[in-house]
Amino acid sequence: AAVAFSGTALAQYPTRPITLIVPFAAGGPTDVVARTIGVNMGKTLGTTIVVENKVGAGGTIAANYVAKAAPDGYTIFLHHNGMATAVGLYRKLSYDPLKDFEYIGQVADVPMTLLARKDFPANNLQELIKYTKLNEDKINLANAGLGAVSHLCGMMFQQAIGQKWTTVPFSGTGPAMTALLGGQVDILCDQTTQTIPIIKAEKVRFYGVTTKQRIQSLPDAPTLQEQGLKDFEVIVWHGIYAPKGTPSEAIGKLNNALRVALKDPGTVARLKELGAEIVPESKQTSEGLRTWLQSEIDKWVPVIRSAGTFAD
Ligand code: MLT
Repeated sequence: AAVAFSGTALAQYPTRPITLIVPFAAGGPTDVVARTIGVNMGKTLGTTIVVENKVGAGGTIAANYVAKAAPDGYTIFLHHNGMATAVGLYRKLSYDPLKDFEYIGQVADVPMTLLARKDFPANNLQELIKYTKLNEDKINLANAGLGAVSHLCGMMFQQAIGQKWTTVPFSGTGPAMTALLGGQVDILCDQTTQTIPIIKAEKVRFYGVTTKQRIQSLPDAPTLQEQGLKDFEVIVWHGIYAPKGTPSEAIGKLNNALRVALKDPGTVARLKELGAEIVPESKQTSEGLRTWLQSEIDKWVPVIRSAGTFAD
């Protein structure tokens, strides 16, 4: 695609607000990370970063939109593991995550938590597994669609316990959480960036974290692994992308703003409080993100294909 501006404009970039596309609903976990980081990046860039939520199809509608957007530095994209897992989940994707983007850098890693509605009749993981086995055809599992990490976590959990539930997709886990809090769905696996305040307020039942080790932000919470789900691990990673062909000067400035934000004490403290861990500097780079994305595609696509979950 043709580059939309001249050398002088590049030197002055950015001269207007930048749109940061978020592939899930406002108020949810991805949105929280995007807004937290976006505010600080905007300060460094001397412009406003405006978040736009383009929801649907587990993040693939947004990814396709960004792949085809003008490569002028004014449209950027924050997405998580879904950038890799969609390659396995969809038979046909109208974009190529490894060819249609420029890579700005990784942001932070986020644990997930397994939750049920507050009146769900199971006090711990073993009781949950027992109860759901007896009521397998009645259990509703909320998620944010094929390509969402809530889908991935729910799929892995059902596999680990040998059950199959009815899934109820939402446009993000923000609305999925509203349904869980309202008792309209039974179970949700969701990120700490949304769930920590809800768990602390005891508004849901909480069965454990999806990391290998316990996490600092919920130190008393057991891992799913220590409760017998061997090798169960889901960690949510985030990358910032731009359409392929975005000038390297703009990518450089965006990457610098990202790295500044990931050192800003206020931004770091806010993300930490929500269970997120800032990635090492080696991952806060274009190459770090591209390499990681490739390794995640290599890791997940065969797993997903063997599980046989597909969308067209
Ligand atoms: C969201 O922001 O709604 C989530 O990241 C969706 C998900 O992937 O579970």
